[in-house]
Amino acid sequence: MRPLIAGNWKMNGLSSSVREIEKLIGLLSGSVPDDRDILICPPATLIGLFATEFSDEGFAIGGQDCHAKASGPHTGDISAEMLADAGAAFVIVGHSERRADHGETDEAVRAKAEAAQRAGLVPIICVGETEAQRKAGKEKEIVGAQLAGSIPSGEGDYVIAYEPVWAIGTGLTPTTRDIAEMHAFIRAKVRDGVRVLYGGSVKPSNAEEILSIVNVHGALVGGASLKAEDFAAIIRAAK
Ligand code: 13P
Repeated sequence: MRPLIAGNWKMNGLSSSVREIEKLIGLLSGSVPDDRDILICPPATLIGLFATEFSDEGFAIGGQDCHAKASGPHTGDISAEMLADAGAAFVIVGHSERRADHGETDEAVRAKAEAAQRAGLVPIICVGETEAQRKAGKEKEIVGAQLAGSIPSGEGDYVIAYEPVWAIGTGLTPTTRDIAEMHAFIRAKVRDGVRVLYGGSVKPSNAEEILSIVNVHGALVGGASLKAEDFAAIIRAAK
């Protein structure tokens, strides 16, 4: 399957970050085969700018969240239609930081994923267990329930990102065996052709190993996607 390397900038980035993307393009020029998809999900304030400046550079732009409705009285929210209008092709939904900070339930995440598909975006649906849940041996039960509750029922395209909460921003990663086991579990629960990304402390030093695990079809990268050198190295590591 064609790998997808996605950068989630979270609440980072100003208009001056255009220079970081220019640097990334410089680092990748001529050295990245076009057999992989590259995606950058900056904060919503930069989507229009990045889409306008970099639409011909061979990578896609995505949002980090969307509202389930297309428009209406929801101050501060952004709809999937608005993201698409600004030039996005993907949107992350159900990231653990949104599930924790904004109390998003599986039902809410499914509604957002359906909204994304309605607007012509591909949702990247995030799932993953906490440290306590893994210690209790419940990781598959948790992830299985998140998948069952968050994936839209229709035929639309989507991507899954497995992001163990305890691996996000901590420098910790599951063992290769644990990643392989969880990805095989997820693979069996989604239809053919759906890509399953791994996320959580992916960096240049572990990218090649993680991206070569069976059933890992790419990565969702946080901190390391903010630095052009690191993100370029991770993009190159995809096979
Ligand atoms: P880090 O790569 O910073 O651990 O973040 C992962 C993540 O949450 C991507 O969505």
